[in-house]
Amino acid sequence: MELAKIGASTRAAAAGCEMNPAGRNEGSKKAMSGWALAAWLLLPLVVLVVLKTDCLPQVTVPQLFTQFSITQLAADGSAHNVTSSGTESATQREAVDIARLNAAHDPVVGAPTPAASSDETAAGVVDASRDLKNQTGLLAVNGERDGFWVNSDVAAPRSKLSCNFSFYRMNICVMEGDVRMHGKAGTVYVVSASDDSYRPENGTVTIRPYPRKWEKPTMQMAREVTIRSSGPGATDMAPPPCTATHDVPAVVFSTGGYSSNFFHAVTDIVIPLYNTAREYDGRVQLVVTDYSRKWIAKYRHVLAALSDYPAIDFDADDTVRCFPKVHVGIESHKELGIIPVLSHKGYTLMDFRDFLRSAYSLKRAWSTPVNRTSGGRPRLVMLLRRHSRAFTNEAEAVAAAAEVGFEVVAAGPEAVRDMAQFAEVVNSCDVMVGVHGAGLTNMVFLPHNGTAMQIIPWGEMKWACWSIFGETVPDMGLRYVEYEATAEETTLKDVYPRDHPVFTNPISIHKQGFGQLWKIFLDGQNVTLDINRFRGVMQQIYKDVTIT
Ligand SMILES: *[C@@H]1O[C@H](CO)[C@@H](O)[C@H](O)[C@H]1NC(C)=O
Ligand SMILES: *[C@@H]1O[C@H](CO)[C@@H](O)[C@H](O)[C@H]1NC(C)=O
Ligand SMILES: *[C@@H]1O[C@H](CO)[C@@H](O)[C@H](O)[C@H]1NC(C)=O
Ligand SMILES: *[C@@H]1O[C@H](CO)[C@@H](O)[C@H](O)[C@H]1NC(C)=O
Ligand SMILES: *[C@@H]1O[C@H](CO)[C@@H](O)[C@H](O)[C@H]1NC(C)=O
Ligand SMILES: *[C@@H]1O[C@H](CO)[C@@H](O)[C@H](O)[C@H]1NC(C)=O
Repeated sequence: MELAKIGASTRAAAAGCEMNPAGRNEGSKKAMSGWALAAWLLLPLVVLVVLKTDCLPQVTVPQLFTQFSITQLAADGSAHNVTSSGTESATQREAVDIARLNAAHDPVVGAPTPAASSDETAAGVVDASRDLKNQTGLLAVNGERDGFWVNSDVAAPRSKLSCNFSFYRMNICVMEGDVRMHGKAGTVYVVSASDDSYRPENGTVTIRPYPRKWEKPTMQMAREVTIRSSGPGATDMAPPPCTATHDVPAVVFSTGGYSSNFFHAVTDIVIPLYNTAREYDGRVQLVVTDYSRKWIAKYRHVLAALSDYPAIDFDADDTVRCFPKVHVGIESHKELGIIPVLSHKGYTLMDFRDFLRSAYSLKRAWSTPVNRTSGGRPRLVMLLRRHSRAFTNEAEAVAAAAEVGFEVVAAGPEAVRDMAQFAEVVNSCDVMVGVHGAGLTNMVFLPHNGTAMQIIPWGEMKWACWSIFGETVPDMGLRYVEYEATAEETTLKDVYPRDHPVFTNPISIHKQGFGQLWKIFLDGQNVTLDINRFRGVMQQIYKDVTIT
């Protein structure tokens, strides 16, 4: 690969010379004061929306709400009262605002425009929690708190409907037997094949097949799929006759939500799809709601590796398709990760990365130490943002890494745009360096034992940034290095006096809501690396990835 040359002019370099090498494997929250940590936890909306805006996904909200389980009941029909969260009370306005926010997302090219005010977002979060409580209350009344699972053997041996609505991240139904799908009607029918008498499983459940169910506004961007099941005697369902018959299972998922953001595409769709569809070894039909042509094109390598068939646009599909088995909803465990004990196939994030490597025909499984005595140079890819959180002195930074001994690939937005091509570039490298942002998601393409370094912008964001990218790095089989920009390394110092809360009390800015946090700390700063400090960190990494 070519060593890319940086053409950008450099701006004023930082004068700060404080040597402060970044700690390694610093995933801990220790650097964050208790108060700061509490602020993140108590203001889930902050992280929640930051996440939507190109970078900071949310891991704190789940912990807040896990005490509520949504229970889905079976036999008594009360199941029908439980709908997927995010349907009832989020206002259209929120959905529109967030959609606008989303439209502005391009994880690699630039930063989104913060449109939603923190108040609106807060409302969404509050509504979500209230609904969870209501549902829990409702179900508690029914005295079935432990009955997590709908498992209705619909009269006949052939048809079976199993739903789990108690996962934190998603609702899922798996149907087997006589299952018919009419995409245009947004409906999946589970038909009992038996002539037995009617049983009350003819109910209706709905699922938005996007695994971020605690985020109401996000879920508004995913179409609701209705699942209707009935006994043979039920006249109200009248399942339409099949006009096409498939002999492989189907997996229904949405490319709505925040799928245009690379972090979200991988966290919310690619990994969950792998969890759900990989086991069929290609013999599976992917069916897409909120079909995004662009998304399907961009992730074609992944889709082709998962399925032997072209994906079907559910919403436009007027065919009534019959499948032996259908999954509605895909299995998500955490941000940018897999929890093996939750995966019924026991998949790990390493397995997922091996899968990606095969999907993109990437050559290097492992990053092996380079022998520097014999003149080897480990390769380092530096992600260069352009709009915000950009390096003002990127040429010096690249030069410093090169001086230390790396062969540097400088990757601006243009380089990152062609995903397959960039996957190859990343895979050819041993180290990835970038400022917090969706681009860091490209670490999934690094060879095992590679090193991912996250530069955290000024603003008390260490813990949040770690929880998004740092936490999952060991599961990827990578090493993590963190570098937190100091007050001397942010361009905010050209805008705010040093006695301003931006410097003296960043958490107070977080507390003003997402709008301010975004405007100041995420969209409002570039990073002027202290080259001496940066060089020191580069030297340490270099030592760790080379031998003599
Ligand atoms: C479920 O909804 C139906 C009709 O919407 C209502 O009659 C019934 O009481 C509800 N069940 C529960 C348990 O709330
Ligand atoms: C449904 O999901 C919940 C929450 O993760 C889990 O505890 C439960 O075991 C699941 N039910 C089944 C039958 O898998
Ligand atoms: C089942 O279907 C019958 C009509 O076939 C309807 O009267 C009944 O309300 C349905 N039960 C449920 C729980 O929806
Ligand atoms: C990966 O890194 C570990 C720890 O540094 C090392 O023990 C192991 O040999 C490395 N594996 C390969 C294939 O280089
Ligand atoms: C590194 O290269 C030098 C010179 O080619 C050689 O003498 C040395 O044994 C190599 N080191 C390792 C660990 O392979
Ligand atoms: C950051 O740098 C980019 C590219 O030079 C520039 O367009 C943008 O205005 C800068 N942003 C801030 C907040 O300084």
